[in-house]
Amino acid sequence: MKVAIIGGGGLVGSCAGYALQLGGIVSEIRMLDVAAELVKGQALDLLHGSPFVADQRIGSGGYELIGDSDLICITAGLRRKPDESRLDLINRNVALFLEILKNVKAAGLRPDAILLIVSNPVDVLTYLAATTLGLPARQVIGLGTTLDSSRFRSLIAEALKLPPTQVTALILGEHGDSMVPIWSAAQAAGLPLEKYPGWSTHLGEELFQRTKGSGAEVIKLKGGAGFAVGVAIAEVIHAVALDRKRILPVASLLQGVYGIRDVCLSVPTVVGRSGVEQTLEIELWPKELAALQHSAHVLRETIDTVLRSHPSAQAAPAGLGKPVGPPPARSGSRVTMGLGGQAYGLSTQRQGGNGGR
Ligand code: 2OP
Repeated sequence: MKVAIIGGGGLVGSCAGYALQLGGIVSEIRMLDVAAELVKGQALDLLHGSPFVADQRIGSGGYELIGDSDLICITAGLRRKPDESRLDLINRNVALFLEILKNVKAAGLRPDAILLIVSNPVDVLTYLAATTLGLPARQVIGLGTTLDSSRFRSLIAEALKLPPTQVTALILGEHGDSMVPIWSAAQAAGLPLEKYPGWSTHLGEELFQRTKGSGAEVIKLKGGAGFAVGVAIAEVIHAVALDRKRILPVASLLQGVYGIRDVCLSVPTVVGRSGVEQTLEIELWPKELAALQHSAHVLRETIDTVLRSHPSAQAAPAGLGKPVGPPPARSGSRVTMGLGGQAYGLSTQRQGGNGGR
């Protein structure tokens, strides 16, 4: 699979390129950046290590690399200042992002190309890409809370002295201040986290707050994230490349799951070769569902603000940028115990939940 990284000269893009190289799964890594000399250096530096890693084609260039790329990852954008929220960043980044989308469209895209949006504020920019690029919305994925969920798991593991790969903990909603910790699904080695020795609600709340502030914490310490966001990007790209059908907390254009529509934010999503293959409405505690819907409301308001100040960012002609539609029927799939909203292709009977907290 040929992957192009727009922003490959920067910290996030170059770390993503390095993670893809170490993964050895994609066949080609193409680095693009407005800083032409810098991105040439990043690609050359990767190439120099290739004999020890994998037989991949690695190079850099301009938008001529987009036309036959299978997946285009956009990491380009200005970084937040330590005290700046992601949504504050939007005014500086929307104009830049719309310019990138224009160049991508002009370069021509494969009809089956997949877009992975990482630039911040990622949920709003994913919405712009999904509604203006003219691709089916299922082919536009936002990194969303994949990085937040990884940070959350790593901090829980560190606090409880657990192997991080055995901690399951999910963050859904906005990759930003309204992100939602899904305690109802938190586990350590398959056991309920809340029953784990040393666990307390106070510790949980502390770790969630630190997760939420991790982006700003890393910016303060080293100028911005690189390694963790790079491996999070590779996780999504490898799910596409290998058609893994991995369930990941990525963002896409939702139309009904959890009662949320016309906005991009992270819900449990099956990611495969065709992009977003299904969004899953797994039962949440009532307060988790309310927080998720609040997150959607915050993002919708921001999108409306952006569309008012950037009229050119209007949706593509009807029929394109279609929301993620009903997935191919999966026999016996009983993933939804929906508490609200339409779960695609699945029964929508209300299930008696355990009520949760
Ligand atoms: C972060 O949270 C880059 O938004 C990313 O660090």
